[in-house]
Amino acid sequence: MTDPQQLTDQAQTAIAACGDEVTLEQLRVRFLGQKGAVAELLRSLPELPASQRRDFGKAVNDAKSAIDKALTERRELLHQAALTARLQAERVDVTLPGRGEEPGGLHPISRTLMRIEALFRGIGFDVEEGPEIEDDFHNFGALNIPADHPARAMHDTFYLPSGLLLRTHTSPVQIRALQRQAPPVQLIAPGRVYRRDSDLTHTPMFHQVEGLMVDEGVSFAHLKGVLVDFLRRFFDRDDLPIRFRPSFFPFTEPSAEADIGCVICQGEGCRVCKHTGWLEVLGCGMVHPNVLRNVGVDAERYTGFAFGMGVERLAMLQYRIGDLRLFFDNDLRFLRQFR
Ligand code: FA5
Ligand code: MG
Repeated sequence: MTDPQQLTDQAQTAIAACGDEVTLEQLRVRFLGQKGAVAELLRSLPELPASQRRDFGKAVNDAKSAIDKALTERRELLHQAALTARLQAERVDVTLPGRGEEPGGLHPISRTLMRIEALFRGIGFDVEEGPEIEDDFHNFGALNIPADHPARAMHDTFYLPSGLLLRTHTSPVQIRALQRQAPPVQLIAPGRVYRRDSDLTHTPMFHQVEGLMVDEGVSFAHLKGVLVDFLRRFFDRDDLPIRFRPSFFPFTEPSAEADIGCVICQGEGCRVCKHTGWLEVLGCGMVHPNVLRNVGVDAERYTGFAFGMGVERLAMLQYRIGDLRLFFDNDLRFLRQFR
């Protein structure tokens, strides 16, 4: 039979040598567990002569307390050591210099939008917004594009399962504005538009700025004056070549598209201008009387002009960028150049 004092010494030596809390728990089970060494000693008690039982029982209890105390102390020590190690490992030297912060920059499209807005605010236009998810009425119907009209095929539209659609142009904002407020109206509406279209000069999402002016006596001369003045100021060039080509939009009559001389090749012809020397930057025209009637504006009394310009096109030409898709790749080497 083991001597309780010997067991205590043995346990204390093992506990003192123990380096982690998991092994320490194994030692606890080995000495103090239900089937451990101390329990075994107690079980042997009845085998002793009655005269020795009392002293032996006391010696076993002393051994139990001593082992328990050694375990508790060791556990506390190991816990402290683990904590200290962790604090050391996670130490932060607050006196080290920082990693440095680079100033960010606005995306070239944002810059172009801000420039366009500033130029139009300067001549008294309000800036409005409309939803990117539109209904058929605002995107097509009210703009004089009836359900069976072939003009709908001009835009390859993203339809949502609900029957709503991603607006294909900013023109629905004309409708929303005229539904809300009576003439005189003089606004621009910048925003994202969506079409199923992708190549050098087309992306499935791009930005347009719509313009609308409705009042008594507004004429095509006002339209040309505002747009020519805008384009020359935008490109900061009094001699910028600009041409208006007759065109067709169901919501304007007469309609035109405006081209500017390709600033990439100076009109020589390149792949950006598809070797024409010209780049289309906007569509425009006199607001069709049907559109005015659709929103309850007296088309006998009021006339107006509208235009819609491609922001990426303008940004491309302003910054001389040959591929529209660069705007949306988010390549930092490209974006850093605009800081
Ligand atoms: C329209 O979207 C008409 N709503 C414009 C308008 C407004 C006409 C008001 C009359 C009155 P269009 O589809 O041509 O028209 O687009 C206008 C401009 O958006 C184009 O001149 C071009 O600069 C730009 N654009 C058109 N498609 C894309 C595309 N996929 N990617 C980038 N820019 C585009
Ligand atoms: Mg067009």
